[in-house]
Parts: sequence; C-alpha cells; structure tokens
Amino acid sequence: MGNHRMALIVLTLALCQFPQPGDAQLQQNYYANTCPNVENIVREVVTKKFKQTFVTVPAVLRLFFHDCFVNGCDASVIVASTADNTAEKDHPDNLSLAGDGFDTVIKAKAAVDAVSQCRNKVSCADILAIATRDVVALSGGPSYEVELGRLDGLSSTAASVTGNLPQPEFNLDQLTAMFGKNGLSQEDMIALSAAHTLGFSHCGKFAKRIYSFSQQSSVDPTLNQSYVVQLQSMCPKVVDSRIAIDMDPITPRTFDNQYYKNLQHGMGLFTSDQVLFTDPRSKPAVNFWAASPSAFQRAFVSAITKLGRVGVKTGSDGNIRQDCAIFN
Ligand code: HEM
Repeated sequence: MGNHRMALIVLTLALCQFPQPGDAQLQQNYYANTCPNVENIVREVVTKKFKQTFVTVPAVLRLFFHDCFVNGCDASVIVASTADNTAEKDHPDNLSLAGDGFDTVIKAKAAVDAVSQCRNKVSCADILAIATRDVVALSGGPSYEVELGRLDGLSSTAASVTGNLPQPEFNLDQLTAMFGKNGLSQEDMIALSAAHTLGFSHCGKFAKRIYSFSQQSSVDPTLNQSYVVQLQSMCPKVVDSRIAIDMDPITPRTFDNQYYKNLQHGMGLFTSDQVLFTDPRSKPAVNFWAASPSAFQRAFVSAITKLGRVGVKTGSDGNIRQDCAIFN
C-alpha cells in the first residue's frame, strides 16, 4: 500500500473519532446511573395528565416538533418571555401551541426533581422527548425506545422562529427543503406529517381553501366536496377565532394511518397535507402507508427518532435548566 493511501486511511479513521457537525450525542438509558427511573416517573405524570385531558397528546407532540425545528431539541420553546426578551413561545407561529404541552413538561420535571437522586440531573429537553414518546403510545401509536442526553438551550428568541417552521400553505418543495435543512428526508417529512391524525386546527389556518381559494374557484379543487361542506358548517365565514376543529375527522383521538387514507379522499386539511397526495413525488409513500399500518409505524419511529437528534446541545452549549420556563 502506498504511503499516500495509508496516510489517507489514517486521516479518515482519525476524523471518524471526532463528532461531526449534526452528530447526535444521544443514547438510550442515558440516565442509567444518575436517574435510573426517569422514564417511569415521566410516564406516570403523562398518563395522569392524559386521563385528565386528551389534548395532552397533540399538545406534547407538536411542542416537541416546534422545539426541535428552532435551535434544535433543547426545550428553548418552553422558556417564558421576560421584560427584556420575547421568547420563542411568543412568536405568532407558536401562539397556538396548547398550554397542556408546556404543563406536562413542567409537571414531569417537578416529579423527576422530587426524587433527590434525580434533582437537576435530567434536562427539560429530554423530559419533552420522553413525554412525546409516551403520548404517541398512549394514543395507539407505536412504542419505541427514546434516545436521551440532550442539554437545555441557553437562548430562546421569537426572532429565531421566523422562517424555521413550515406553513400550512407550503408546497412539496418548500416542505422538503425545510425538513432537509434539519437533516430530515422527504420520507421523514411525509411520515411525521401523520401527526395531523391527532389534534385541532383553528379555522383561520385553512379558511382560504374553503372560501377564497383563487379567482377561478372559491374552493380548493383538491378538496373533497362533501368535506368542504362539513368544513364550511364548522367554520363559517365569520367565526370566533378560538374555534378549532379536529384535523382527522374520522379517528381524531387515535394515532393511526387514517391521515393517509384521508389524503386519498381529498380530506387533507391544509395545502401542506393534501399536496403529499396530489404531488406525484410523494403520492407513492402516502398510498403505501395508507395500506400498511406497520410500514407507517416503522417509518414514523425512524423519523421521530431523527427529529429528536436535531441540533442537540452538548458541553458548554447547554445546561440542565432548573425551571424549564426560566434560564438558570
Ligand atoms: C409538515 C408541515 C407542517 C405544517 C405546515 C404544520 C402546520 C400545523 C398547523 C397550521 C396546525 C394548526 C394549529 C392551530 O390552528 O392551532 C398544526 C397542528 C398540529 N401539528 Fe402540525 N404542521 C406540520 C407538521 C407537523 C409535525 C411534523 C408534527 C409533529 C410530529 C405536527 C404536529 C401537530 C399537531 C399534533 C397538531 C395539533 C395541535 C393541537 O391540537 O394542539 N405537525 N400543524
């Protein structure tokens, strides 16, 4: 073997020892020595909250997504604004995050910290990741092992949210680009979009599709006509801005593959949902997962695990927040 080639191999091996940008420093059982019972403690709180209100499920799931896409999965979305800082949660894109998601994390953190061995050992970011895993399972979705070891972020600004969350009017290229920016593939994006099998949307997020779509047609032609009638009756033109409707009208409280079946029937609530079926590039995945719940579940677990690795903080880039809503 030539010296050059040898040197190249040695260099390559040496580089592999160092974490590459975007490498997640996460592992299962990360707290085995510091807080071995953490997953049970969180699950108990989440289950109790779930019994009080189903909203816990969509609220936690969406909170995790919005956390990870802005400055990585570092619980920066949970931080409250102060007199001199408007935090992520007060950006317009986050104002519709349901309070029960925040409440779940705060309560789980209190339960973890009530165990003296665990006090100030578990990050809010990891508690949110565990709670997300739990709400998916509680609503009938797949159970999966959750990777842990995230630190909590040191900054949270409303300005950092701008342009980093997908909008309901997005087309496939815009969706794919935004997920790609976070290291997620188009397939991951299609799998994660199935989170819209749960939860609620305010009428304003899709009103244009049912009242003022274009000059040619007041209604989006990709929408199912009887679904349009239903939507118009639930969301009249003049509507209380607080009214929110189920995003999956068929099985709104079950984490299942009904989302994809709805798309096949023109019942995707947002343009960003329906486009997954109308665009020939994403349609095959929609059809596949509509037909195979198990294939969908595998794809979702893989995608949400990758979502949990986005922008993870380690070392001096983060810490363990004592109060999830306040920087230490
Ligand atoms: C693909 C692009 C996405 C867009 C454009 C989008 C947009 C939206 C919008 C506009 C709402 C309604 C908010 C409201 O009116 O209150 C919503 C709700 C929701 N989204 Fe997404 N979303 C996307 C992806 C995701 C992903 C990847 C997840 C999680 C993995 C997710 C989870 C949820 C959940 C659970 C709700 C219901 C929230 C509740 O009931 O409180 N979304 N989304």
